[in-house]
Amino acid sequence: MNDSTKRVAIVGSGPAAFYSAMELLRHDDPMVSVDMLERLPTPYGLVRGGVAPDHEKIKSVTKIFERAAGHPRFRFFGNVEFGKDIQRLELLQRYHAVIYAFGSRTDRHLNIIGETLQRSHAATEFVGWYNGHPDYRHHQFDLTSKRVAIIGMGNVAIDCARILCQDPENLAKTDIAQHALEALRQSQVEEVFLIGRRGPVQAAFTPAEVRELLHLPKVDAVMRASDLELDDHSKEELSKASRNTKLNMEILQQIHDQGDRGNPRKLHLCFLISPTKIEGSERVEGLELVHNEIVKEGGILKAKATDEVMHLNVDMVFRSIGYMGEAIPGLPFDDRRGTIPNEHGQLLGEVDGKLLNQEYTAGWIKRGPSGVIGTNKQDAMETVSRLKQNWQTNQTQEPKFVQHDLLDFLKEKKIQFVSFEDWKKLDKFEIEQGQQKRKSRQKICEVQEMLDLIQSN
Ligand SMILES: Cc1cc2nc3c(=O)[nH]c(=O)nc-3n(C[C@H](O)[C@H](O)[C@H](O)COP(=O)(O)OP(=O)(O)OC[C@H]3O[C@@H](n4cnc5c(N)ncnc54)[C@H](O)[C@@H]3O)c2cc1C
Ligand SMILES: NC(=O)c1ccc[n+]([C@@H]2O[C@H](COP(=O)([O-])OP(=O)(O)OC[C@H]3O[C@@H](n4cnc5c(N)ncnc54)[C@H](OP(=O)(O)O)[C@@H]3O)[C@@H](O)[C@H]2O)c1
Repeated sequence: MNDSTKRVAIVGSGPAAFYSAMELLRHDDPMVSVDMLERLPTPYGLVRGGVAPDHEKIKSVTKIFERAAGHPRFRFFGNVEFGKDIQRLELLQRYHAVIYAFGSRTDRHLNIIGETLQRSHAATEFVGWYNGHPDYRHHQFDLTSKRVAIIGMGNVAIDCARILCQDPENLAKTDIAQHALEALRQSQVEEVFLIGRRGPVQAAFTPAEVRELLHLPKVDAVMRASDLELDDHSKEELSKASRNTKLNMEILQQIHDQGDRGNPRKLHLCFLISPTKIEGSERVEGLELVHNEIVKEGGILKAKATDEVMHLNVDMVFRSIGYMGEAIPGLPFDDRRGTIPNEHGQLLGEVDGKLLNQEYTAGWIKRGPSGVIGTNKQDAMETVSRLKQNWQTNQTQEPKFVQHDLLDFLKEKKIQFVSFEDWKKLDKFEIEQGQQKRKSRQKICEVQEMLDLIQSN
């Protein structure tokens, strides 16, 4: 590395972080080195901890990220949490630029009575649990529940419904966390209700995902004919809608037509209803719901509650109404949107809203929790393009650096960081353990166990 090499730190190691790194390292003008910091010992963010275990093909994107990690000017520092192990200023003192790509860690709330009852959970927790994310390893989901409601009509809600409904033996060969597989094998869930506040035209799921519900062995996906009868606003929206929305409608019609075939598990798709209360004294006993109608406000079709109140007997509730970014003390943050304020990826200062020259952001924490893995590629390219433009136009003054590499800093602070080679040892171990159990991977779900394994290998 020569003196003119630009040093960039990227916080996070999900798709946005890796696409940013790849874009930075793609050309040698200017020469860039990348240090990636990740709070877990494992890389890849939601590709490891979010994507459903039965969507294995999608996870092959990690092969591309792995190749990028082999670049001679790339270093990975796992088990290093920004905001805890290292602070903003400590990064700014060492790098020409920092890209925050730490995703949206938490979830949105319904803000209704009963949300904190036992057996009322966030989808984020359930997803983390079945995917072996260490934060959720010890969460308990009482699968003696027979009737489960999932609030939300997005792809995460569909993932959760599929995991709850399908025969666990379909999951046995995947990388599902072993504790989840064992719990699902004992599951007594019989009926799952997916609850959308708007109509089918406004559903947030995508065709490939909803189509899978037609073909789940031993499961009947069902819906009421009345939910396919569209109001005038929705009819108009559908006439101008994207191909995906039109396909969704065709698939929903097929789901309706296929109907109840006497399979043991039922998955109900219910539209135009919103929960108003989660009922129960200690734990969930039911849902109070209100029927909605579609109204047009400012050109947007919204759900408006009618007087029609309903009741649904359920003994477990998952809210799957979107993820939410979390503030990291010291960093500018938009609490309402759950994002870092930015202009094309360049941070805006909290006090005066002026552009900050050394700091950038990418992915969900930049734009909010929506979009598939590929969406983060364009997003990262926009950020890196802004960063390189600033370098070219010399808008960045050379900061006053401390002559103290991150490696020395971490060693001094006795932080047991995980290099990419260390992660590869863990990766190999998980795959080998998986092979013994005829699974694609047997995930280690405890941070200390991961660190011990790395040290002993
Ligand atoms: C349940 C679920 C399933 C999905 N399934 C699919 C799918 O099948 N196909 C598809 O294309 N898309 C899917 N997506 C969308 C896709 O996962 C996201 O678009 C993508 O992961 C967002 O990338 P990101 O890098 O912004 O965030 P993330 O992937 O969340 O990565 C953020 C990373 O930052 C780390 N981090 C957080 N805080 C800190 C800190 N303080 N210090 C250091 N590191 C930190 C996190 O541990 C994480 O590794 C799914 C999303 C979810 C929620
Ligand atoms: N297989 C895949 O490709 C895959 C899998 C999982 C996730 N993802 C992606 O990851 C992103 C996040 O997915 P997501 O499902 O978490 O979010 P999402 O797509 O934004 O869906 C959120 C759902 O929650 C509903 N909702 C929001 N607030 C609500 C409230 N107060 N009451 C009732 N319902 C409410 C929304 O309804 P409204 O529309 O009315 O707001 C919507 O149906 C998406 O881009 C998704 O495509 C992709």
